[in-house]
Amino acid sequence: MCGIVGYVGPKATVDVLIGGLRRLEYRGYDSAGVAVVADGQLETRKKAGKLVNLEHEIAEHPLPKAHIGIGHTRWATHGAPTDGNAHPHLGGPAQKLALIHNGIIENFAELKAELLAEGTNFASETDTEVAAHLIARAFEQSGDLKAAFASVMNRLHGAFTILVVHQDQPDVVLAARRNAPLVIGLGDGENFLGSDVAAFVEHTKRAVSVGQDEIVVLKADSVEVFGFDGTPVNFTEFEVNWDASAASKGGWPSFMAKEIADQPQAIADTLMGRVRADGRVVLDDIQQMSTEQIREIDRIIIVACGTASYAGDVAKYAIEKWARIPVQVELSHEFRYRNPIVTQNTLVLAISQSGETMDTLMAIRYAQELGAKVFAICNTQGATLARESDAVIYTHAGPEVAVASTKALTSQIVAGYMLALALAEARGAMTEDARLALGRELLQLPASVSEVLANIDQASALGTAHANAKSVLFLGRNVGYPIAMEGALKLKEIAYIHAEGFAAGELKHGPIALIEEGQPVIVIVPSPNDVDSLHPKVVSNIQEIRARGAKVIAIAEAGDETVSQYAESVIFVPKTDSIMAAVLDVIPLQAFALALSTAKGLDVDQPRNLAKSVTVE
Ligand code: M6R
Repeated sequence: MCGIVGYVGPKATVDVLIGGLRRLEYRGYDSAGVAVVADGQLETRKKAGKLVNLEHEIAEHPLPKAHIGIGHTRWATHGAPTDGNAHPHLGGPAQKLALIHNGIIENFAELKAELLAEGTNFASETDTEVAAHLIARAFEQSGDLKAAFASVMNRLHGAFTILVVHQDQPDVVLAARRNAPLVIGLGDGENFLGSDVAAFVEHTKRAVSVGQDEIVVLKADSVEVFGFDGTPVNFTEFEVNWDASAASKGGWPSFMAKEIADQPQAIADTLMGRVRADGRVVLDDIQQMSTEQIREIDRIIIVACGTASYAGDVAKYAIEKWARIPVQVELSHEFRYRNPIVTQNTLVLAISQSGETMDTLMAIRYAQELGAKVFAICNTQGATLARESDAVIYTHAGPEVAVASTKALTSQIVAGYMLALALAEARGAMTEDARLALGRELLQLPASVSEVLANIDQASALGTAHANAKSVLFLGRNVGYPIAMEGALKLKEIAYIHAEGFAAGELKHGPIALIEEGQPVIVIVPSPNDVDSLHPKVVSNIQEIRARGAKVIAIAEAGDETVSQYAESVIFVPKTDSIMAAVLDVIPLQAFALALSTAKGLDVDQPRNLAKSVTVE
């Protein structure tokens, strides 16, 4: 949830840290702070609120030129978002050590009691501060900072990425990770640490993903990695395939606006090299599993949270229809704690943009303990989910910075379609002609998404026009149902208004009582040519709610003129396969929420109370 950056090298350290924090601010924006060591002196600045407050603080009280430092942007867990609770936290009576932390130290209360009994003064209400005091105390006793750091890491329970600088060791940043992300950036005469590669991608593309329970000793000209027990660890580097400009707004008013517009490219990049011109899906990513093993799968459980779980819902429709494998979709946090039935023939598919969502990581670890194979759909190279899964289908959406997920969702859905078609081929579940036709349809999606975007003003205008709406309801059937829920989530998340997505057929079982005069309802209308004949049923649902006063906005397939008679507004999207329509239908909903939030004057990219990457359970 918090963003972490560290630097050792010749550059202006404060600029490197602030630049890194700017790219990581999506991870949390309750407060921000930095610590540097210059001329053997530790200096910190920290401020509640967004990064800009810290920048003002540094402008008023400049920091000295330094070549080593750490920076933090916070999503508050323990302690309110105040200046005092902002990181870095100082350790020891002489306050020579500064520490930043992402995660939760679960046994902080008992550690704090121990320190209080010894007379330690605490300056904050955080769980984090105990670690700073413990390391400072251990260093005073042993004179060995690395050993002191390791001994404390071994005492902490929970989830943490921790970075430390000490003014008596002004050439080294120490870092550790357990259950929270940490990546090293390798430079020439300089090195970096970050919660993800966005922290340093403008400086270097050579990266190393730090493993579980590992400690990093970072100096300007060397990087060493050790286990918590002190054993040296060999590491392999990877090349970051994002460029720095991908993580900037590039002239758009918000990251969300840019990321909505990025979708044709994100989908094309996700398809690239995986779907041949004749429509055959060649998913090398899952080669770890032989055709024989794929045939033995008797169930797929998809685990994910939030928007990613709606991508899972859409994937379920595709996998069941095309590959004929039973699929259940579970919110990761519910799956993990309900004693689910998982066997060696269960394939668990985890979907996560960040690859760091703690609920999803706990779910896959549990599934692995039960003997399941785990595949991941993930957007972030070097993420924990990617490291820990048996196979990864990377979405190539590029960095998604806005808290509200857009291009990650549509890329995840497309990855789910490709997986479904690859499974269908391995299991002989469809005729080759039908399978290849779907593969070719997939290749059309980037162009169809561009077409939707070319007409996006209509959805945006409707969003603006509903700026004063108290509530918006969304209805859909089949893949339109998870898309309805996604439309509602987008509105709750960035516009702070009541919104709910329903299966249209469920309405008459209760929710229709919510409909009163003037209630806006957005309805995802299936294709009139759909083989399952859902179209007339949804049209009937529209009539039922209109009869009770609803004002209907329909998302319908181009040419579906029947709907026009029953809706106040119709947004047409290009014709495609009925399951693939999910990708097109969701885009007007994204634009609607973006425009409505903007019209209310809200911060679209950094909505209140949220963080992009949810690394606590
Ligand atoms: O990084 P992940 O895909 O695992 O994140 C899962 C959810 O936290 C995320 O999709 C969240 O619901 C979005 N902010 C919704 O826009």
